[in-house]
This record gives sequence, C-alpha cells and structure tokens, in this order.
Amino acid sequence: IERTFSMIKPDATRRNLTGAIVKMLEDGGLTVIASKRVWMSRREAEGFYAVHKERPFFGELVEFMSSGPTVVQVLQGENAIARNREIMGATNPADAAEGTIRKEFAQSIGENSVHGSDAPDTASEEIAYWFSETEIVG
Ligand code: GTP
Ligand code: MG
Repeated sequence: IERTFSMIKPDATRRNLTGAIVKMLEDGGLTVIASKRVWMSRREAEGFYAVHKERPFFGELVEFMSSGPTVVQVLQGENAIARNREIMGATNPADAAEGTIRKEFAQSIGENSVHGSDAPDTASEEIAYWFSETEIVG
C-alpha cells in the first residue's frame, strides 16, 4: 500500500471546492490519512517548489500558492501516486481528460486546483515537508 502527498490549491479553496475534490479522490479509491488547512508563506511556497526555481513561472507560482488557504493531505491506497495523478488529470486543464479534477475545476495551467506527488521519493519529501509522523493516521 502506497502513500502520496496531495494539495488542494487556493483557487479551489476560494471556490469552496474542498469537499468536492476530496470526494473525487475517495471515489477513486484513495483514503485521506492526514489533512490540514494551511495558508503558506511565500518562503514555504518557495521551499516546497524549489525544484521549479529556474522555471519562468516560478514567481507567479509562489505568488499564487501563498495567495490563500490550501489543504495539504496524505493519501493512501493501491498505487496511490499514479492513481492520484490519474484522478487529477493533466497539468493544463485544456489537456485534462473528462471526469478528472482539473477538467472539472481547474481555471488555467497555473490555477489548476490540485497538486500531487509524481514519484515515491518526491512523495516522501513532500509528506515530510508538511507533516510529522504523529499527524499521519493510517
Ligand atoms: P503538480 O502536481 O502541481 O506538480 O503539477 P504537475 O506535476 O502536473 O506540473 P509541473 O510539476 O510541471 O508544474 C508544477 C506546477 O507549476 C503546476 O501544477 C502549475 O501549478 C505550475 N505551472 C506549470 N506550468 C505553468 C505555467 O506555464 N504557468 C504557471 N503560472 N504555472 C505553471
Ligand atoms: Mg510536478
């Protein structure tokens, strides 16, 4: 059984979509084993997205991610990392498949409603960035 890190982004919390998004994740076979709402600082956003710091959209990304509340979560399930990315859909909502979170809710490639880890090593790092072991109840 695998764990992944998930985040509901400010564009989605602002539109009161937290429950709708969690329902899609749960219906997709994933279980929420840790969850909290955080309004991250610019510094926290920069640290979280450090791998993207050379990308042209980095400033915009940090600005957006610190513009309002997010919900950070740990999800557990069979192939949770790949499963979560399937349920989220493509990064750009214009390319996202029917029935995915980003097809339903994302507003643009930047304001795309959710984040999900892309590999086991990044999942571990991202979980540890936001949660202590005692906050995760599997
Ligand atoms: P994450 O699950 O959020 O990591 O998305 P991803 O793995 O599908 O995309 P990627 O890692 O390539 O990019 C990380 C995040 O940067 C995306 O989710 C977007 O929020 C943002 N991003 C990517 N490309 C652009 C862009 O062209 N403009 C802006 N403003 N943001 C972008
Ligand atoms: Mg990514």
